[in-house]
Amino acid sequence: MADRKRVLSGMRPTGRLHLGNLHGALENWVKLQDQYECFYFVADWHALTTDYASPGDIRGNTREMVLDWLSAGLDPQRSTIFIQSDIKEHAELYLLLGMITPLAWLERNPTYKEQQQQLDQKDLGTYGFLGYPVLQAADIIIYRANGVPVGKDQLPHVELTREIARRFNYLYKSEIFPVPDGLLTEAPVLPGLDGRKMSKSYGNCIFITDSEKEIGEKISRMMTDPQRVRRNDPGDPEVSPVFAYHKLYSSPSEIEEVAHGCRTAGIGCVECKKILIRNVISRLAPIREKRLKLESDVQGLRAVIAEGNARAAREAAATMELVRRAIGI
Ligand code: TRP
Repeated sequence: MADRKRVLSGMRPTGRLHLGNLHGALENWVKLQDQYECFYFVADWHALTTDYASPGDIRGNTREMVLDWLSAGLDPQRSTIFIQSDIKEHAELYLLLGMITPLAWLERNPTYKEQQQQLDQKDLGTYGFLGYPVLQAADIIIYRANGVPVGKDQLPHVELTREIARRFNYLYKSEIFPVPDGLLTEAPVLPGLDGRKMSKSYGNCIFITDSEKEIGEKISRMMTDPQRVRRNDPGDPEVSPVFAYHKLYSSPSEIEEVAHGCRTAGIGCVECKKILIRNVISRLAPIREKRLKLESDVQGLRAVIAEGNARAAREAAATMELVRRAIGI
């Protein structure tokens, strides 16, 4: 529908997605399909900004991730699903934006310094890493997107994108680029099995595609209230990761039952987890079933990506015509 506003977002190809990704981003992407014209892509070039020395299986990870997207409800009829590195125009726009982006904007980007410190076993003193947000800006504005659904950590990048879009329009007296809004995804941070943020690098994830058996085993060893040592000690549900999951997966009466039971030592952790296991399994079942069908249809997945790439390429090529004309190149 032509009158719909356009949103665009991307994920780096990390492979199979976990429940943090599902509730933190993907469910929101699925919902946005009702309201917006949606572009969703695999940011495989971005994966190289930090992992250039050992890229790993980017193609395999891309495939796994797109399968998860489709299983969770991204609909290729309504969303343009594509791969960044297949649309070479992103690289051309990235180069041109590099000409107009002041170094100071990049150097003061908070995630630049933070990540360099956090990922200190990798050498991130590279041109590509500093330019990460310029590539991200190109990804966004080449589709003339109006909104960018992201988590809080990505807002500085959207802010930079806005500045870069404005600067381009100003310098070349053009109105090619809308200034996009960050659409902050309000999602509770889902704890991992050990109570820290769920993250592949911590090895504390439940994956969307985990089997019933794996889900059962993982939740069985999930951390609970550490103060509640014995069965008849009362506990505090609010400090237990298990309860954070109940809030997301269980019915209001079950939530009430386990919260009260925990506080009064009326229910044991094993029993409380049993309820959760049942609910997580039944909620993920339709996603897993869809995934099994999609996995066996190799041609089908290829066709989805080819079709998305073709649509994205048309849009990107049209924007680049305008960009070259505005610059006079
Ligand atoms: N930087 C984003 C992340 O790590 C991925 C990304 C790349 C992106 N280009 C984008 C997100 C454009 C939104 C729009 O999650």
